[in-house]
Amino acid sequence: MRAVLEVRDVAKYFGGVKALDGVSLEVPETGLVGLIGPNGSGKTTLFNVVTGFYVPDKGEVLLRESDDLVRIDGLNPNEVFKKGVVRTFQIPRLFNSLTVLENLLVTPLGQRGESLVRALLRGSWSGQERELARKAVELLKMFDMLHYANSKVSELSVAHIKMLETIRGLMTPAKLYLLDEPAAGVDYSTARKLFTYVRKLRDERGLTFLVIEHRLEILMEYVDYVYVLHNGKLLSEGKPQEVVSDPKVVEAYIGA
Ligand SMILES: Nc1ncnc2c1ncn2[C@@H]1O[C@H](COP(=O)(O)OP(=O)(O)OP(=O)(O)O)[C@@H](O)[C@H]1O
Ligand SMILES: [Mg+2]
Repeated sequence: MRAVLEVRDVAKYFGGVKALDGVSLEVPETGLVGLIGPNGSGKTTLFNVVTGFYVPDKGEVLLRESDDLVRIDGLNPNEVFKKGVVRTFQIPRLFNSLTVLENLLVTPLGQRGESLVRALLRGSWSGQERELARKAVELLKMFDMLHYANSKVSELSVAHIKMLETIRGLMTPAKLYLLDEPAAGVDYSTARKLFTYVRKLRDERGLTFLVIEHRLEILMEYVDYVYVLHNGKLLSEGKPQEVVSDPKVVEAYIGA
């Protein structure tokens, strides 16, 4: 399988802190790849480098464009987004005073979203607006959240807020979805549900994911391949079972 994303020998320093120190990894087309590691190991920093929030101090980030891999390091977040990389945030970035459905229609694509919320209020819809709404409803159904469509975000549980952040990312068609701890702070059974839905999107629609998760035991059931970061370096990689039984990984987690 060809790579959608290739990270080559990337480093990112904050003063004396080596948040990333020579990390290389790749995500294949239709892959569901996990990125794990103890607190402060560099996971979010890697997402920030890939999505243009940070320029790496060293190394390259490449994204597939038809038959080529092209460099995207140095592009700004908006440019990376337009190239087809969507990310969700560890701390959800939602509009608390809007409803669940409205949050999904205010996509990062901008103006269209605002006019959509107005259209919602007016009750008049253009074809494009209707298509987005159809997609929102479909995703809400899939994530078993349709009954919350008209609830305000401020009324939702933490688990549903986290779920909504993921669904919002999925509203935008993308080559690659980066999910930053989509199940953080979420109970075990809801976390498993969320990963089941993500896996289904990969299996049935061929979407590609790189997912950060803290809890090994949850991620292991769902991903094809795992990278483990520790102190900004790649500590281990492989199939879930290989990584779980890697003594280096066990030690890093016990020592964390
Ligand atoms: N903007 C920043 N300025 C200074 N230091 C930073 C910055 N961002 C991250 N760091 C440091 O870089 C290291 C890696 O942080 P990062 O947020 O990438 O870790 P993480 O693996 O996502 O951790 P967590 O599991 O807690 O989310 C940490 O030591 C952190 O304090
Ligand atoms: Mg993080």
